[in-house]
Formats: sequence, structure tokens, C-alpha cells
Amino acid sequence: MANIILVGMQWGDEGKGKIIDVLSRKVHYVVRYQGGNNAGHTVWVRGSKFILHLIPSGILWANKKCVIGNGVVVDPRVLLTEISELRERGIEVAGRLFISELAHIIFPYHRLEDKLKEEQRGGARIGTTGRGIGPAYIDKVSRTGIRMVDLLSPGIFGEKLRVNVDEINRALRKFYKKPAIRFGPLLREYQGYGRRLKRYITNTSILLNEAVNKKRSILFEGAQGTILDIDFGTYPFVTSSNSSAGGACTGTGVGPAAIDRVIGVVKAYTTRVGEGPFPSEFDEEMDTLIRKRGDEYGATTGRPRRCGWLDAVMVRHSARVNGITELAVTKLDVMSGLEEIKICTGYRYKGRIFREFPAGMNVLRKAAPVYERVPGWSEDISKVKSYRKLPASTRQYLKKIEEITGAKIKIVSVGFERNRTIIC
Ligand code: IMP
Repeated sequence: MANIILVGMQWGDEGKGKIIDVLSRKVHYVVRYQGGNNAGHTVWVRGSKFILHLIPSGILWANKKCVIGNGVVVDPRVLLTEISELRERGIEVAGRLFISELAHIIFPYHRLEDKLKEEQRGGARIGTTGRGIGPAYIDKVSRTGIRMVDLLSPGIFGEKLRVNVDEINRALRKFYKKPAIRFGPLLREYQGYGRRLKRYITNTSILLNEAVNKKRSILFEGAQGTILDIDFGTYPFVTSSNSSAGGACTGTGVGPAAIDRVIGVVKAYTTRVGEGPFPSEFDEEMDTLIRKRGDEYGATTGRPRRCGWLDAVMVRHSARVNGITELAVTKLDVMSGLEEIKICTGYRYKGRIFREFPAGMNVLRKAAPVYERVPGWSEDISKVKSYRKLPASTRQYLKKIEEITGAKIKIVSVGFERNRTIIC
């Protein structure tokens, strides 16, 4: 199999975890390239549920190698918990998990800053996951971040941490009127993490490029979704990294020429957690129905997800900025039993119809959706094994998605288990 980037085409939670799991079987390496433990990939294996926040879900397949790339921000406490939980369930990560020495580290003060900044924003809050993701990336960009490699040099680590703790303490005292963070306990806690994580930390760009040279296949798994991308999403209601396909190269140190395929994962409807505009959001009744049927609650925070119709404007934008070569459609079974399905094909704002995704949030916030209607289907499709056997109106809906994106559907998911998958 080739080298593949897999990205979500909406606001995250497209069901990427399952598609990654299905594809992982055929690749040698599974790699995370951005985000942190704000993500949550849910995978069902033989009736057991696994939720992974940092470690690529490829770890659930024996013999697969998993990489946390340089573009990821790592909370070591969460990572070590995930490693122990996997071990308790009989999955060993030693020799299979590699963490980039260039990945930046999340500290408790990042989580604190995340929370305090959100409180300060009041009504204009982003609705972050509160995991310290944004503040960790702020440190990275402002060149004060602390990386995995620093954990391996206790002297350098202590010096850098001292500078950062002094700075945050100045802000906490003067600006937020909060108690200061104690340097000593924090230093000891993280030195302990360093000792436990040392065996996994390495130059993962070399590792992956050697794999490319040996024709080993790599799956780059995007977290969040394109519409949460720091550049191409609904800024400022986005995450702080490039979740779109381009992030896979900068976030791993593998060049673009090594990539063969870009798979876009699109959920049959739209969901979003957190704040921000959502033109095709359902009315209350449909929202409750689909949330219940689709079990639409955040895998990381447990927050109820807002639900809406498929947004063609958004998905086309996504297809373009990612250079999608093929599609995986998820949660199609959740749409069964609807008489009619709507697809948002434009936004009406001040007498004009926008067919392209607007940059200004004002349009998205105030626009009325323009809908095209297609017939629904009443059959339960969760046990269907081939594309041909899907009801005609289901196939018609899938064809519409292909038309919108200009890409062919290769995978359709009709249930959360591995075997509820149609390969087209
Ligand atoms: P942050 O990534 O915690 O800073 O949150 C920024 C925005 O991204 C918020 O709207 C979050 O709800 C959203 N977000 C972050 N990670 C995910 C995810 O994995 N799925 C869906 N939304 C996410």
C-alpha cells in the first residue's frame, strides 16, 4: 500500500478513528502529525471500545509501528497513562512507539492559561478542550517552547523550565491575581516523565524517511478536521495547528513527494463541538434525534456535539485545500429512516448567495443556508456488505457527495465495528 494522508473534512469527529483502524491493517507505520490530546479516536475491536488521544490507533494492530511526529504537542502525563492503559489491556507499545525529539511538551501552566484565556474571552470564547493545546503552540511559535529532546538533558530542561515558570508566574500574580506555580515539584514531576519516556524519544524524521526508502507504507492520521485548521478553518474558532494535509509533511519531516494518496473522511452529516457559526445546524428536534442515534458526544470532553446537514460548500473547500484523491464516508447508517435529506449548497447573505467558503465569520454567522433536497431511505443499511446492495436513494446521496468533492468514494462506514465497512 502507498503512503497515505487521512484527514477529516469537517469540524473533526468524522469517525476517522475507525477508518484509520481499517487502513492500519495494510500499512507498516501509523503517524500522528499535529494536535495533542484534544483529539479522541474511538475504535471498537471485537466488542471492546478503545479511545486514544495521543497514540495512533494503529497500535491496536500487532506489529504496527506508531509515531508521534514533531508537529504534535505532547502532554507526558496523558501519554504515560495511555501507555499503561494499553499495557493493562494486553497491548505492548515498547519497540513500536516512537516520539519525535522535536515534539513540544504541554505543561500544567498551559492548561491553566487555556482555561484563564477562555474565561477572559467570556461570550467570545472558543470552546477549547481545555487541554493546553493553544498555549503550548503559542510557546512553540514564540520560541520559548520546551521539546522532548530537552527532557533528555536535565540541566537544559531545568533552565528552560525556570524561565517559563518565572514568566507565567509574573502574569499569574500581576494580571490574573492567582497563586504562583511551584517550580521544584513541577521540575521533579517532569524529570520523572523524562526518565519513563526516554526509550521512546528519537529522530522520527530519519525513521520515517528510511521507511519511505525501503518502500514501507505509512499512514499519516490527521486529528481534528480541516474546518478546525488554523489557516483554512473557521478562524478564530479553530485549533492551533494545521490539521489539513499539508501539516503531515511539516509535522513529520517527510517531504510531499513521498505522499501517494490523500483520503478525506466525510461524515454523512455535520457535527461540531465548541463555539462558532454553523449554518446548516439542525433544528432542535433533528439535533436531538441524530445526536442520540449517532452517539454524538465528544470522545475527549464528553460534550454533546451540535449536529446539522451535510455542508457541500465546506466539504468542497476541504477537498480543494487538502488535494483529496478519494473519500471515506462515515456514519451513513445514522441517516436511515429520514424521508428527505438536505444538503447545504450555498449561504444566502445580504441578498447574495455564496458558493465558496467565506473567509469572514460574519457571513457564516448570519447566513441562511441554501438547501438542495434528496430522497432519504427507510432501510437499515448497517449490515450491507457491498455498494451495489445499498438502496438506490442511498447510492444517490453518495453520488451527490462525489459530485460535490470531485473525488471517488472508496470506503463507506455503516456501523462502528471494524466489519461494518463497505470497500467500494
Ligand atoms: P483546542 O484544540 O482545545 O484549542 O480547541 C479549539 C477548538 O477545536 C474547539 O472548538 C474544540 O472543541 C475543537 N476541537 C479540538 N479538538 C477536537 C477534536 O478532536 N474534535 C472536534 N473538535 C475539536
